[in-house]
Amino acid sequence: MQIGLLGYGVVGAGVDHLAKELDGLDVRKVLCLNLADVTGGRGVTDIAEIVDDPEIDTVVEAMGGLHPAWEFASSALRAGKNYITANKALVAAYLPELLELAQANGAALRCTAAVGGGIPWLINLERCRRVDTVRRIWGVFNGTTNFILDAMHRQGADYAEALATAQKLGYAEADPSADIDGDDVRRKLVISVAAAFGALVREQDVPMFGIRTITARDVANFRALGKTCKLIASAEAGKTVSASVEPVLYSAGTPESAIPENFNLVSFESTNAGHQSYYGQGAGRYPTAYNMVQDCLDVRSGTRRFYTKDFVRAEVDNTNVFRHYYVRTNAEDAWLDSVAAAKGDGFAVTAAISQAKFHEWAAVQRQSDPTLFFAALQ
Ligand code: HSE
Repeated sequence: MQIGLLGYGVVGAGVDHLAKELDGLDVRKVLCLNLADVTGGRGVTDIAEIVDDPEIDTVVEAMGGLHPAWEFASSALRAGKNYITANKALVAAYLPELLELAQANGAALRCTAAVGGGIPWLINLERCRRVDTVRRIWGVFNGTTNFILDAMHRQGADYAEALATAQKLGYAEADPSADIDGDDVRRKLVISVAAAFGALVREQDVPMFGIRTITARDVANFRALGKTCKLIASAEAGKTVSASVEPVLYSAGTPESAIPENFNLVSFESTNAGHQSYYGQGAGRYPTAYNMVQDCLDVRSGTRRFYTKDFVRAEVDNTNVFRHYYVRTNAEDAWLDSVAAAKGDGFAVTAAISQAKFHEWAAVQRQSDPTLFFAALQ
């Protein structure tokens, strides 16, 4: 396999190192900012040198971001080159277009490292669907937020302190918004929904609430209730597809409640295999590079399809998902009062209510109370 590698940062350099150890994976050119970073005179600064190179059959992208990644992906696929990426923003935003281009040009499209870093998640959804029907997927898909929540629960850290530690350890970006507000998780969920159910949902249709406003006081309340808070993505397929990203409170003894530090735990439930979970490092140089190189080997062995054969566009409908919610808000609200089943010091716990209705209410309530925090009870 003759590879054109896009990006030579933490992950790109990791791919290059791992590929060197394997026979038959030749990183022929590397698109990079600094030619001196790349050995053997392989560095190039113009994408055309890769897309127009007839010797290169596969483009491996480790850049991130929507642009110019989309322009690079579409020109590589149009040139009939396989496209392997860890770029969840790109795949979540452009999946229908990428699928069409890959199919029209007989090229492979794979992104195993985009969801769960080094965890074999998407490929096991693919394997499951060969003989079974996936009903539900859920889990901890983001290491940064898990690190923050774990530090708040286990070490009594407050939110700002835990975030600063996550930044110091290199888990959270200088601007941590995509992690803490849930965008990163939502992108991973959109890709997982495609692989699990063959359903193409739009990112912006999935309701999302992150952990930006959680306080040490909330965590003390959760502990008093015997619960641990995790940022959870979940989706279920039946007649319709439900999907959401929100904090969820788990009881002690559940696998989710025990996930430490920056680890991920992602699970599915299928008709015959039942419940399976995958635990591991969802980010980092070598875990991510590991799954990108695995994709290269699968494509070299003839894999072409994007995890599942057929896709249908689907709307997200959470109307019939019912949850109890812990809600802390300092703005009076008559609807919240009408659905509260219990009240504590500064918080309410609702009766089982429609998730769709609740997220709509929370989006409005946030305008009058930006400190609002909520979590669903598992
Ligand atoms: N920022 C992500 C996380 C890693 O913390 O899990 C890449 O998806």
